[in-house]
Amino acid sequence: MADNDRSIVVLGGRGMLGTDLAKALCRKGLEPTVFDLPELDITDNHQLSEAIAENKTIVNCAAYTDVEKAESQSELAFKVNAEAVGQIGKIAAERSAKVLHISTDFVFDGKLERPYVETDAPNALSVYGKSKLEGEKLLQSCGCQYCIIRVQWTYGDNGNNFVKKLIDIAKQGKPLRVVDDQVGSPTATKQIAAAVCELIRDLPDGLYHYAASGYVSRFDMARFIFDKIGIDAEPSRCRSSDFETAAQRPLNSRFDCSKISSLLRDPVEPWQKYLEKYLEQFRE
Ligand SMILES: NC(=O)c1ccc[n+]([C@@H]2O[C@H](COP(=O)([O-])OP(=O)(O)OC[C@H]3O[C@@H](n4cnc5c(N)ncnc54)[C@H](OP(=O)(O)O)[C@@H]3O)[C@@H](O)[C@H]2O)c1
Repeated sequence: MADNDRSIVVLGGRGMLGTDLAKALCRKGLEPTVFDLPELDITDNHQLSEAIAENKTIVNCAAYTDVEKAESQSELAFKVNAEAVGQIGKIAAERSAKVLHISTDFVFDGKLERPYVETDAPNALSVYGKSKLEGEKLLQSCGCQYCIIRVQWTYGDNGNNFVKKLIDIAKQGKPLRVVDDQVGSPTATKQIAAAVCELIRDLPDGLYHYAASGYVSRFDMARFIFDKIGIDAEPSRCRSSDFETAAQRPLNSRFDCSKISSLLRDPVEPWQKYLEKYLEQFRE
């Protein structure tokens, strides 16, 4: 990347992933410009155009991420996760900028019995997943240079996530039922940020899957968490169908990350490594 091509804007830069990504880019000396609600609403075309300005790389971490609420707020979910992403792509095409966009495993129905590769056909089950899939398609059709990275089962310091929710419930001494039929790879937003930083100078084109290596069920993940932080909590196993939820979730969230791994210097770290470090702050 030439020096005059280094300018980066991060949209959704104060969300869970955006915060860690912006920090990692700063540490690399890339000093991104960071926007988020309330000063920037990506569904406002004028604000979006001003925020993107003449930046040469647009990193989009902004999204409507409430999977349950999306079922009843479909219009808003599609505005943020689809239409606005298309608009980002249009502006990028006009200004010869590149877009790095973050997407999700929820574009799949999770019925495949092996890890998903990028060429597998998506079939989203939920409004959130459908809106994210539509965002990918709109971005891909704008004629801009794009890199879409799908991530899954993320956790970080700056946001609510499955790990924090589990620990909260367990610390309150409430009974805990955890599904054992959803399988994925718990992935730290810091780990994603490090990978993105490695790629950002020479952003590859196309669609990529990124997750920590190895797979685990939600139930075994809960047991790992309680063991590491020393909480005496005994979760009981259940199936996803035992919970009444508005949104249906994919059971298989496993990603095959060979495509992105071939671009990274080191092998992707196993999920246990970052999670163990993250859990230090919760130790009893
Ligand atoms: N968390 C996961 O497990 C997971 C899994 C797979 C993929 N992802 C993807 O990862 C990306 C980052 O998500 P995250 O986990 O960091 O979620 P997050 O913490 O909810 O971050 C999303 C950010 O976007 C902002 N935002 C929402 N609507 C906006 C709008 N109209 N204009 C501008 N900003 C807006 C949110 O602001 P408010 O907080 O004020 O709403 C928030 O700061 C998303 O693309 C998400 O789909 C997440």
